Amino acid sequence: MARVYVTRSLPGTALERLAAAHDTEVWPARVPPPRAELAEHARDAEGLLSLLTDPVDAELIAGCPRLQVISNYAVGVDNVDLPAATARSIPVGNTPGVLTDSTADLTIALMLGISRRIVEGDALVRAGAWVTWEPGLLLGYDLHGATVGVIGFGRIGQAVARRLEGFGCEVLHTSRSGGIELGELLERSDFVTVHTPLTEETRGLIGTEALRRMKPTAYLVNTARGPIVDSDALRTALEQDEIAGAALDVTDPEPLPADHPLLGAPNLVVIPHLGSATHATRERMADMAVDNMLAGLDGERMPYCANPDVYEARRA
Ligand code: DGY
Repeated sequence: MARVYVTRSLPGTALERLAAAHDTEVWPARVPPPRAELAEHARDAEGLLSLLTDPVDAELIAGCPRLQVISNYAVGVDNVDLPAATARSIPVGNTPGVLTDSTADLTIALMLGISRRIVEGDALVRAGAWVTWEPGLLLGYDLHGATVGVIGFGRIGQAVARRLEGFGCEVLHTSRSGGIELGELLERSDFVTVHTPLTEETRGLIGTEALRRMKPTAYLVNTARGPIVDSDALRTALEQDEIAGAALDVTDPEPLPADHPLLGAPNLVVIPHLGSATHATRERMADMAVDNMLAGLDGERMPYCANPDVYEARRA
């Protein structure tokens, strides 16, 4: 029986399976364990089941001499220092695939939410400010028939593109492996939607220059990772009407404090990282994270591993 530290309770019953097999400790609070607590509780663990809110960096890994398996409850692994884990031959699990459709659905919701002014409309009604039906009240721009630029064309980007076919959209894309140049995509698109992982190459990819290349009638949507969009540059672009609006599921910083200057910008919808937030998807993610942990602790290949080179190195 191994010791496993889990940094938050997860939906569904997956953690019961883990606890039946291993000595499992779960951080009980709604908020992530503070750094010192994480380091202390993980120190003697063989398994660490982390969330995207936990920085599993080289220092933390070095402080856990018994650690054999990291299982991250997310498809993104930008919170984990993969090279540091790989150097210790620690496989890092993630949860690809199961959250693709939920995240793509939410992306479409954000496109419609910002362009059809749903949040503003709701606020107007609740404020008692809806006087009458008016020809010019809260006009927006259509998603149907629009040109949509998808940045990053992996599972989620492609799932968004499939949904947009139903809206009669022209879909452009750019990715490491193909599509058109980013600059051309920004200039031609009525909606630009971000679906690339956060890496050193994509950090700040949508900054002042990129936003200036967008049409003044275009919307930006980000359901990937906050730091891909430069928050200060976005605030300026919105304040100066350089783009029509933005809808963010992810922000930099995250969470965004209520007094953050970005929240003062017009034509902005922000929600709290809800891309995968459906009952079914979050339970499937928990099952995958536990399956990865159990396989790793049994010395088997994880079903979903973000650094599979550890297995090649073990064989060599
Ligand atoms: C992930 O899994 O990386 C998502 O951002 C969670 O919704």
